[in-house]
Amino acid sequence: MTMISRRNVLAGAATALLAAPAILRAQQLFTAFPFRLGVASGDPGPDGFVLWTRLCPDPLDDHGGMPTAPVDVDWMVFDDPGMKRVVQKGVATAWPELGHSVHVEISGLDPDRPYWYRFMVGREKTQLGRTRTTPLPGKQLDSLRFGVAGCQHYEDGLYTAYAHLAREDVAFIWHYGDYIYEDRARQVNYERDGSPRIHVRDHVGSECYTIGDYRRRYAQYKMDPDLQSAHLAAPWFVTFDDHEVVDNWTGGVSPFQKDPALFALRRAAAMQAYYEHMPLRRASMPAGGTMQLYRRALYGDLLDVHFLDTRQYRSPLPCTGSFEPVCPDVARPDRTVLGTGQEAWLAKALREKDNRWNLIAQQVMMMPLDRRIDDGPAELRNMDSWAGYDAARERMLAGLKGLGNVVVMTGDEHQNLAGELRRDAGRGEAVAVELVSTSMSSGGNGSDRRPGTDRLIARNPFLSFTNDQRGYMICDLSRDMWRGHFRVVDQVTAPGGTVSTRATATIERGRPRLSLS
Ligand SMILES: [Fe+2]
Repeated sequence: MTMISRRNVLAGAATALLAAPAILRAQQLFTAFPFRLGVASGDPGPDGFVLWTRLCPDPLDDHGGMPTAPVDVDWMVFDDPGMKRVVQKGVATAWPELGHSVHVEISGLDPDRPYWYRFMVGREKTQLGRTRTTPLPGKQLDSLRFGVAGCQHYEDGLYTAYAHLAREDVAFIWHYGDYIYEDRARQVNYERDGSPRIHVRDHVGSECYTIGDYRRRYAQYKMDPDLQSAHLAAPWFVTFDDHEVVDNWTGGVSPFQKDPALFALRRAAAMQAYYEHMPLRRASMPAGGTMQLYRRALYGDLLDVHFLDTRQYRSPLPCTGSFEPVCPDVARPDRTVLGTGQEAWLAKALREKDNRWNLIAQQVMMMPLDRRIDDGPAELRNMDSWAGYDAARERMLAGLKGLGNVVVMTGDEHQNLAGELRRDAGRGEAVAVELVSTSMSSGGNGSDRRPGTDRLIARNPFLSFTNDQRGYMICDLSRDMWRGHFRVVDQVTAPGGTVSTRATATIERGRPRLSLS
């Protein structure tokens, strides 16, 4: 095995270029800045977190501009933003098998405080990232602020909202999914009324199938400076939705590939690229085309977060899998969204009841919305949501009964929505509140409300709020009150979009009711 360690690179360069200035020695390895995809931290615990980067001097190249050999990368964790005191440092190897990504799992740090970090290779240094550990489980915590984002179609808009989110001073950011979109460049985009939309930028490459395709797509997205700024600002918890693999996939099934053996190849490539580009722990490394993504995070005695995976274990979409009337499969009790293992895991965690709040952080809407905005004769549901899985949804809601401290948060819709989760298909008792966060860019500028919203709200009395602008959510928690701020930007098709709070959802602990201001 030949490993290009830092010592080898510098010693080798020194032998070959004895009289050359130092700057040439670093350039022996990198013809361009190798940290062009930025840095990230994630999955924080009370004594550490994951630090991530990827060596990628030529991001759109097949191997990111790297030689297909392992390369050592130095990392440092600092006590202060002035980098006066190094609290830990080490060397991690960027392996070609993982696209020269690096995932360093740090432990042994103090709880509930910020840390700063950077990576170095040769003479090249990353920017300084800021992250933080979680409070010790069970420790009294009086307040917490976190951010929620996702659905960032690169062609639909700029990531201006990420630049705003980076300045929000949050303990963590949860990304609900659709970090990339797998489709080819559209060149022209259309609004809902069919008129051409202001086209912002193009995907590079065709639709993603191979590991090289997905790597290139992540590289393109991650070069965005606003996205990088949000990673620099706080640790992230990430969960994928469908577009990290392909639109509307569930379990071993793709709507676009009837042969499961062929879809398995694509899914494995997509999951590897996802792992390579996310600040995930080794426990989430894919094996055999599956990965462990559902997991839990505790913030003192204030918040218990259950990050769900609503893709890998789900039964196939019912009916034809689109927005359509209910067919018999929707009611089948053997159909699942979470799979039996994840359902049991969540039920057990919720029974522990030793935290003030529970957040169920998941992907597709749980409220069984009737989507009709006209006088059509039959109820229309989105089958790629819990509305296509009646038995699974009612099992979930039955498990929330009596808790009074559960907030479900969701992405996927490319709209802000808020409502109550009521049993019996929305006609029964409210057991929790659902806050659906809009998209970072998917859907373009949008408008305050989509046409037909009044009808939608009239048909779905459990739904109280909709908004069709781009942005993110900020949640401010106290021991008895949850405030979810819908932060929206006025436009994403040109730089300089300004942010404002469109509405705030307030939930009182012990009462699963939603009030809006
Ligand atoms: Fe999306």
